[in-house]
Amino acid sequence: MTSEVISPSLIPTLPGHTYVDEDIFRAEQEEIFEKMWFCAVLSADLTKPGSYKTVQVGRESVLINRTRKGEVRAFFNICRHRGVKLCMEEAGVVGRAFQCPYHAWTYDFEGKLIAAPNLTKMPDIDRQEYGLVKIAVREYMGYVWVCLADEPPSFEADVIGAIEERLGDLRAIEGYDIAHLSLGRRIRYDVKANWKLIIENFMECYHCATIHPELTEVLPEFADGLAAQFFVGHGAEFGEDIKGFTVDGSEGLERITGIDDEQDRRYYAITIKPTVFVNLVPDHVIIHRMFPMAADHTIVECDWLYLPSVVDSGKDLTASVELFDRVNRQDFDACERCQPSMGSRIYAKGGVLVPSEHHIAVFHDWVTSRISAAGSPASH
Ligand code: FES
Ligand code: FE
Repeated sequence: MTSEVISPSLIPTLPGHTYVDEDIFRAEQEEIFEKMWFCAVLSADLTKPGSYKTVQVGRESVLINRTRKGEVRAFFNICRHRGVKLCMEEAGVVGRAFQCPYHAWTYDFEGKLIAAPNLTKMPDIDRQEYGLVKIAVREYMGYVWVCLADEPPSFEADVIGAIEERLGDLRAIEGYDIAHLSLGRRIRYDVKANWKLIIENFMECYHCATIHPELTEVLPEFADGLAAQFFVGHGAEFGEDIKGFTVDGSEGLERITGIDDEQDRRYYAITIKPTVFVNLVPDHVIIHRMFPMAADHTIVECDWLYLPSVVDSGKDLTASVELFDRVNRQDFDACERCQPSMGSRIYAKGGVLVPSEHHIAVFHDWVTSRISAAGSPASH
């Protein structure tokens, strides 16, 4: 569906059922989350060889681990013998290898099958062939990104290109040197809403004056309803009396060393489709990773990253973290209040986008074209 203009200022949203229909969600899993680059884990969470995390990507469980050489590998989290889920935990460290809890097939950190009971009686078994099935990985911005597609799309075009398109120039993000920041706080939000509602919410600021009193205090231009994302390269300026990006406008933490003076006292927001939001402020970077679990359920993991010296110092981050934690709760609460209405007959044709939200129609067209090009259920 291409967005049709129903009046000069109003554009329809997606129809309501696209936010609740399990067939559409399955098509999104297949055509979007399982085919695009997906930001899976913070590299620093894999602290040493044998450290691993498991994450849900589309319909698949993915096992990501650090090898003896310090590199990162990703596999389908499935034993090649009879298909048991190899690692049941979300995170852990194994000493030497991954051993299947069913019949004890054992895989090294490169995924190779290295042992199995009675394997000497099966000399012809190909240990590479029956190793764990590899998934493409990239490390970027301090995160491990995975792609389940047989032929992954260009990371440069899809991920780095999205940042460039938003900021106008990659140098604008390089100064934050995100890969070398340290995790100050992580909060996981369990959101009973469709992932698209969360993206749409992040893309617009029409709601800011209504639900984000603390944020509009710090960024007064947000009260006008125009999101910073609306203009290429634009960063929203802090209010005159605001000292830092904190819940009460008090002083923030140590400024990130490499940023330009013109980036000081400014806030930038970037959406990297399909599941990542990045916020840049002078003293920290906030990265949201979404994990769409069901049509009406999304887990959002949010990391607050600071200079290592700030985290190491043990300084109190409460006022800093609390601003966006409140923003997140306000946003997710709004999304959760939309979700039940998506199945209502009143919303069968969807709602409308006002001019300051028109850019969301581009996202809608993108989702629709991805799932309909593959012959998946049409969006209406
Ligand atoms: Fe894993 Fe049998 S299912 S060893
Ligand atoms: Fe918001």
